[in-house]
Amino acid sequence: MSNEKKKLVEIKNVSLTFNTGKNNAVKAIDNVSFDIYEGEVFGLVGESGSGKTTMGRTILKLYDFDSGEINFNNKSITNLKGKELKDFRKEAQMIFQDPQASLNGRMKVLDIIAEGIDIHNLASSKKERDEMVEKLLELVGLNKDHLTRYPHEFSGGQRQRIGIARALAVGPKFIVADEPISALDVSIQAQVVNLMKKLQHEQGLTYLFVAHDLSMVKYISDRIGVMHWGKMLEIGTSEDVYNNPIHPYTKSLLSAIPVTDPEIEKERTPLVYDPTAELDGQERTMHEITPGHFVLSTKEEAEQYRKERNI
Ligand SMILES: Nc1ncnc2c1ncn2[C@@H]1O[C@H](COP(=O)(O)OP(=O)(O)OP(=O)(O)O)[C@@H](O)[C@H]1O
Ligand SMILES: [Mg+2]
Repeated sequence: MSNEKKKLVEIKNVSLTFNTGKNNAVKAIDNVSFDIYEGEVFGLVGESGSGKTTMGRTILKLYDFDSGEINFNNKSITNLKGKELKDFRKEAQMIFQDPQASLNGRMKVLDIIAEGIDIHNLASSKKERDEMVEKLLELVGLNKDHLTRYPHEFSGGQRQRIGIARALAVGPKFIVADEPISALDVSIQAQVVNLMKKLQHEQGLTYLFVAHDLSMVKYISDRIGVMHWGKMLEIGTSEDVYNNPIHPYTKSLLSAIPVTDPEIEKERTPLVYDPTAELDGQERTMHEITPGHFVLSTKEEAEQYRKERNI
């Protein structure tokens, strides 16, 4: 067996512009390239408006992109249609930020979860359909008694479990989880992350896990990508990005995380990122500074980053 990890998703030089009325164009994704390996959790972080949701939705073929290429399982998603598109929709699912808004309030849990099973004709009888849904509920820590209830009868955490069961119902390979715990009480965020981690192992899933906050994705992610203004600024293992950030923006993101020790917190001055350097018109590409740790930079900046690390 080769050591090469298999690329499940390949994103190559993808750009996407939203045109909202005359003279109003937002480059939401700006020449972004990265791979998501089979079986990994790729955490995508960045502040509001950096393009994380757009990136996730683009990979799921919910938006058309202007240029570049996205391959899923070695096949371009651009021209998928008919049965191939339907198969892709089955393999690549989404979990949403707000389980309240993303579950149809007028449908019973049974029918919410069974929707994908019905669309893809995965059950041959009503009995089989019910059994599949029961199993899914069990998988996410809910039970049979919940089948005939409506979303409003559940807590936020339980609703997100329903959202997860719905995504798993069609047996996907890949899930885009767009800030799946941000809307939840802090006290139950860890439970939902742990559940997602457990399911990932059990079902051999691959996740793109979107979050604002690096500390939130550090625990669940194998690798992390940092986005800012539509660009991918840094990619590396979770440990590397968290412990040895290279890009000034990543450093500022990390320095914004409060420290629990009041003495240290008192003395701490968060780093302020100056984005003007990004606007100097110079061409920047991804440079590998240490093995597997990439940063968007000019050649000179890359040299400087290496020097700082004595490489
Ligand atoms: N459907 C849309 N139409 C027009 N502009 C959009 C659309 N969706 C996003 N944008 C714009 O694209 C940019 C990226 O937005 P996006 O929602 O991807 O960011 P985000 O990183 O997910 O932010 P947040 O953390 O707030 O969810 C923003 O400037 C946003 O206003
Ligand atoms: Mg978003």
